[in-house]
Amino acid sequence: MNISVIGSGYVGLVTGACFADVGNTVLCLDVDERKIALLNSGGIPIHEPGLDTLVARNAAAGRLLFSTSYDDAVAHADVIFLAVGTPPDEDGSADLQYILAAARSIGQRITRPVIVVDKSTVPVGTGDKVRDAIAGELAKRGAEVQFDVVSNPEFLKEGAALEDFTRPDRIIVGSDNPAALKQMRLLYAPFSRQHEKFIEMDVRSAELTKYAANAMLATRISFMNELANLAELLGADIESVRLGMGKDPRIGPQFLYAGMGYGGSCFPKDVKALIRTGADHDQPLRILQATEDVNERQKNVLFDKLVRHYGSAGALHGKTIALWGLAFKPNTDDMREAPSLVLIRALFAAGCKVRAYDPVASAEAERLLLAEHGQARCADLLFLAASAKEAAAGADALVLVTEWKEFRSPDFRYLAEQLRDKAVFDGRNIYDLEAVSAAGLSYEGIGRIN
Ligand code: NAD
Ligand code: UGA
Repeated sequence: MNISVIGSGYVGLVTGACFADVGNTVLCLDVDERKIALLNSGGIPIHEPGLDTLVARNAAAGRLLFSTSYDDAVAHADVIFLAVGTPPDEDGSADLQYILAAARSIGQRITRPVIVVDKSTVPVGTGDKVRDAIAGELAKRGAEVQFDVVSNPEFLKEGAALEDFTRPDRIIVGSDNPAALKQMRLLYAPFSRQHEKFIEMDVRSAELTKYAANAMLATRISFMNELANLAELLGADIESVRLGMGKDPRIGPQFLYAGMGYGGSCFPKDVKALIRTGADHDQPLRILQATEDVNERQKNVLFDKLVRHYGSAGALHGKTIALWGLAFKPNTDDMREAPSLVLIRALFAAGCKVRAYDPVASAEAERLLLAEHGQARCADLLFLAASAKEAAAGADALVLVTEWKEFRSPDFRYLAEQLRDKAVFDGRNIYDLEAVSAAGLSYEGIGRIN
């Protein structure tokens, strides 16, 4: 099939490359000229394991094209995916300006039947708005072209995007048109063994399914974070509790890890957007509001632990804190809503210096921190190290922020020599208390017995 993907970010690029890899000809479009120029010169704008090889292979085979031209993208495609961003608006609702702009651009150009597939995460009812936007443009130019709008939300996780896309748990497709559903089933056949993963429903239910899934996962995390904070006070270990709970097949082991709050480009914004949708329909989503409130508090949990460790916020003044990890999760350079930013903000405000290391997110973190705190403050307070060891060298305490593999088995004796106050704060509960203590370091995890 000939496919165009509008928006060449995380989702658009992964979608385009994966569909090209099974033999389709895919044109990825973006309004960001630098992104397209980079892709056309063989570069990749994001860090996603395996994506560079996949893009290079399919671009070389002529099955994956990159363009900024809507004329080319619309002329090329039988199926057009919308994969533009849907960031939060000021009131928490999803900002649909990019989706609707893309829909209008399509409506201004289509001359033959096309299926427009909404892959971005959008509130219930957006399918109708996309349809209206395209129809409005057709009416303006007096054209009559048959088109369909299908909802096909994406469930990939950053860092595991290719695996998630090519071996999905489920493929949700919302449409009331049997012909469009048939074409979508064909398109996804390579990723849906005997179509068993393909779940059809109406557009609105598909749109809501996406928010429901993210909201449930975020709620599990907030539940565990709140329980972890209680476990600490009770002298119980959240890691044992997690294992015990997760063995119940009705609960399952995933997304039960306590930490410093969920971040990323999706959970925070999607939880907000669903809360907004509830409020708009006079159906307040109280559980979800609590999920968000707990998460906001949890982002401060490591700073609060540092304050307790040193006795007061004032006692932190002049300390140097090493951070391992900056990205909102491992295997990505995505810093959107990363809890590390909240911690760094608090550390700077308390008069601490920060020595940070992340295997791939340092450049993006630096860009954001410079924009937020300014060149002079960053020059004074922030040092971005080239290795985990360099970050720890000469610091007072270490905080593990992101559970990258390379942080999993550190040389605790080296840390004990380097860290002046011999203190390790483990924001992801990856270290063994005994191993850390044996090296003469103090240890604090999230919800663990010390
Ligand atoms: P992103 O910010 O990485 O990429 C969006 C791209 O769209 C940008 O490159 C931007 O320049 C481009 N764009 C904006 N307006 C445009 C227009 N009018 N025409 C063409 N291009 C335009 O975003 P993302 O992380 O890929 O997310 C896209 C959507 O997918 C969001 O709704 C998000 O919630 C959803 N989603 C994201 C993930 C994820 O892991 N990132 C997973 C599932 C779903
Ligand atoms: C999440 C969902 O997992 C995807 O299914 C979804 O498609 C995507 O959002 C989206 O809609 O964009 P992602 O944000 O890439 O994917 O990352 P996750 O692995 O879900 O992690 C999100 C945050 O939750 C991270 O900050 C992570 O550290 C945190 N988390 C995750 C925990 O604190 N505990 C856990 O047990 C799991």
